Amino acid sequence: MSVFVTRRIPAEGLRLLSQASGCCVQLWDSEEPVPRSELLSGVAGKRGLLCLLTDRIDREVLDAAGPSLKVISTMSVGFDHLALDEIKKRGIRVGYTPDVLTDATAELSVALLLAACRRLPEAVEQVKNGGWTTWKPLWMCGYGLSESTVGIIGLGRIGQAVARRLKSFGVRRFLYSGSRPRPESAAEFGAEYVPLTRLAEESDFVVVTCSLTPATQGMCNRDFFSRMKKTSVFVNTSRGAVVNQEDLHEALAQGQIAAAGLDVTTPEPLPTDHPLLSLKNCVILPHVGSATYATRNTMAVLAANNLLAGLRGEPMPHELVL
Ligand code: NDP
Ligand code: DGY
Repeated sequence: MSVFVTRRIPAEGLRLLSQASGCCVQLWDSEEPVPRSELLSGVAGKRGLLCLLTDRIDREVLDAAGPSLKVISTMSVGFDHLALDEIKKRGIRVGYTPDVLTDATAELSVALLLAACRRLPEAVEQVKNGGWTTWKPLWMCGYGLSESTVGIIGLGRIGQAVARRLKSFGVRRFLYSGSRPRPESAAEFGAEYVPLTRLAEESDFVVVTCSLTPATQGMCNRDFFSRMKKTSVFVNTSRGAVVNQEDLHEALAQGQIAAAGLDVTTPEPLPTDHPLLSLKNCVILPHVGSATYATRNTMAVLAANNLLAGLRGEPMPHELVL
């Protein structure tokens, strides 16, 4: 059972692999992503691959691995970095890490939303740079959640967990969009299934928690932002490519929408001279949705257990149905 692990993952996950009988681990022992050439050589002849969302697992990697590769385990719930068609064609099983990061990511989504709508980074900056001269009636005002309408794009695990948290802030109405209505998921929030255009038009807060697919790529574009209210706030914690960033920049710069909070961008990292970073009304985080110690540890353990179960021909704790 030879496996290639593309990053130094939390120790408990690595320990599980190295202590598993018959498991021979080759590790890219770094905090930084494995260079492509090292990935291609590291995976050659391996039976298992434990990868991260920063590793593009495409036909080239699968060819480099060769027919020995039977299991891929990604330490992420998102799987848009995996060429699933090719993987399926080759009969390779895939494990991923749903559920265990839902709470952490929902919590971060709410934090980001509040940071954007109440202008927290801007306010902190004012304290530091002397902009805080006195209490003023309209200074540093933003928008609150009480009595608002929140639109969730993708009412999946994380989308529901966000709605559950936001409900306690006094949100009046939830809308959601997706590929089809999900009445069983929506009931708890009395959420109404609406087309994307209506969600844009009626929401005071838009939260994007969908997966990245060909259908969602670039979905939040000029048309979408032009339908949003001038007072609305846009938050994305899914994948950067769901958003057309040029269109978002235009909407923020021209005051078509009030503010945005992004945990994910294209590319990642976002270049430090990117135009979005010059806007006061755009809060950008470095893809830290699931970044609590406990969550990352649990993700590593789950990814290791998925890999081992797959290698042993057993049911995985979380297998992606291809
Ligand atoms: P789920 O599979 O539970 O939810 C994905 C949602 O996407 C579903 O509700 C699905 O709804 C929706 N969706 C799919 N197609 C469309 C569409 N065309 N329009 C609108 N919605 C759509 O996944 P999770 O909630 O666990 O995770 C969601 C994503 O969040 C992950 O794929 C990942 O990219 C991202 N993520 C980011 C993190 C971060 O650190 N920022 C951390 C964890 C996850 P339906 O099936 O009804 O269409
Ligand atoms: C995921 O798991 O897909 C996130 O983006 C990182 O936790």
